[in-house]
Amino acid sequence: MPFFTSVLNQFPEHSLKVRTINQSRQRQCFIVHRKPQAPQWQEENAHEIKNDEISRVIETPEGYIVKYIKQRTWHDNLRIFWGASKISAELRSCIFLQNLGLRVPAVLEYGMAFIPGHLWGVTGYYLMEKHPAADIVKHHFHHCDQPARQKILAQLVHDLQRLRDARCVYRDLSFRNMMTDDEGELFWIDTNIRRYAKANQKFIADWNKTLKVLLQELSTMSESAEHDGLRAIQDLML
Ligand SMILES: Nc1ncnc2c1ncn2[C@@H]1O[C@H](COP(=O)(O)OP(=O)(O)OP(=O)(O)O)[C@@H](O)[C@H]1O
Ligand SMILES: [Mg+2]
Repeated sequence: MPFFTSVLNQFPEHSLKVRTINQSRQRQCFIVHRKPQAPQWQEENAHEIKNDEISRVIETPEGYIVKYIKQRTWHDNLRIFWGASKISAELRSCIFLQNLGLRVPAVLEYGMAFIPGHLWGVTGYYLMEKHPAADIVKHHFHHCDQPARQKILAQLVHDLQRLRDARCVYRDLSFRNMMTDDEGELFWIDTNIRRYAKANQKFIADWNKTLKVLLQELSTMSESAEHDGLRAIQDLML
């Protein structure tokens, strides 16, 4: 479904807003789309989680997460207009994955840069709920016991099966993009998928490639007790 129908319908409130985008107090104008339950928030006094050339992620004092997608090339500005920018892809993927039954962040507001072309600016941002007791699986793996790790791996295999059945490749399939809580529920972030119309050679090659990266990561962080998990992921190869 095109970006404008799948995403826009879910965010019925629209406005034009100037927002501060970084600690240097740089300001930019956005076309803002909000759900009715979206909170009022400001960039000021937020805690910065990460900041690199691709994106900036902050936690607001009210406990919401905001991800700004930075402008990297002039193409990024053009992509906004036909829903092909990184922000559109992440939002569309988020909705698709939620419909597939995966746990993804609840996005409450997003903003697209109005008059893009700001050098060093952002092409957009989105505001989402913070996952409670969020923790990256890689870190969590070192702290939780073996049954909890097995539970996470079983959920991972289940989610991957759903993705494979829907002919979807998670572009950055990595434990860095999964989180978990104290109950060991698996939660996906950095949602950006590629969908394939047919289970053709391209899909099979891309699917196997991303799975190999994940297996590599898992083999460096888990003990022999996790071999069942490794095997179950290997079995998902096409
Ligand atoms: N919904 C969320 N709840 C809690 N923490 C989050 C959430 N979304 C992101 N984070 C935190 O922000 C960090 C970076 O988020 P994310 O993975 O989306 O960015 P990224 O990998 O840097 O993105 P990109 O690959 O697009 O540059 C995560 O590792 C996590 O600690
Ligand atoms: Mg990430």
